[in-house]
Amino acid sequence: MLPEIELDKTGENLPVFALGTWDVRDPSAMERTIRRAIDEGLWHIDTAEMYEGAEEIVGRAVKGRRDEVFITTKVMPQNASFKGTITSLERSLRRLRTDYVDLYLLHWYDGTYPLGETMEAFAYLMEEGKIAYAGVSNFSIGEMEEALKYIRIVNNQIEYNLDNFREVEGKLLPYAQEKGITLSGYLPLWRGRWPSGEKMDVLKGISQKYGMTVPQVVLNFLTRHRKVIVIFKTEREDHLLENLRSPEFTLSEEDYALIAEVFSREEEGPYT
Ligand SMILES: NC(=O)c1ccc[n+]([C@@H]2O[C@H](COP(=O)([O-])OP(=O)(O)OC[C@H]3O[C@@H](n4cnc5c(N)ncnc54)[C@H](OP(=O)(O)O)[C@@H]3O)[C@@H](O)[C@H]2O)c1
Repeated sequence: MLPEIELDKTGENLPVFALGTWDVRDPSAMERTIRRAIDEGLWHIDTAEMYEGAEEIVGRAVKGRRDEVFITTKVMPQNASFKGTITSLERSLRRLRTDYVDLYLLHWYDGTYPLGETMEAFAYLMEEGKIAYAGVSNFSIGEMEEALKYIRIVNNQIEYNLDNFREVEGKLLPYAQEKGITLSGYLPLWRGRWPSGEKMDVLKGISQKYGMTVPQVVLNFLTRHRKVIVIFKTEREDHLLENLRSPEFTLSEEDYALIAEVFSREEEGPYT
């Protein structure tokens, strides 16, 4: 069984990984991989109204198995007026072939509509039983603080990889934990654009030492503390199985430190 993380203060546990669906190349392969993921215990699927065709693929993949999965989807800020949010959610539900989503996120905040208005729509949708939990994405600490004035948010989905793990773990995570907000992290594998030079040499050296692959080392590092849900995307069943095995290894403290050192980025990013 995959390690699990509590969706903060909800009593609900989720797998340490979620499967992403952005930018699908081959819809049939993605559909098969989602089904395989659920079979393998990866039952949290991340999608968004913005990911063209993805909600439909998820809908087909989970047909007849809705109760087995936790679906996260997102509304775009341009649609996030009170009425627009409700309309977007209704469209997502149709594409997903379901009558509720587990977690609904504001994809990012751009000021098109006041945050309070969007959160009011989220609260309404919760009352209606159309979303179980509300959350946000790409929110800084200040923006999370603002959102909490209006509604209980349980999740902030942010970029999380070896390039920004210090900022996420050092600043965003302590704040989120204090407030009962679980972080989930996207782009853990850099969308397949792997690092080069010394960084890749270190990852390769460590992967060889443990008989792991580079993606496994990276995912192992990002899940080592079991505090952030890591969302990777793959359309390939062999990659899926490879990634799911990554928490089975324990790297030595020295090897974690070596990775941390070679990927140190000192400047502050967008979240703080
Ligand atoms: N909230 C937001 O603003 C936001 C932004 C970006 C992404 N997201 C979510 O997060 C998910 C993950 O991020 P992402 O899709 O951008 O990037 P990612 O998961 O970092 O990388 C996906 C890429 O890695 C490859 N890959 C996966 N496992 C591999 C393995 N074991 N070996 C070699 N290649 C492997 C995949 O190709 P194959 O298919 O060939 O395996 C794919 O090209 C998205 O799909 C989306 O659901 C959210």
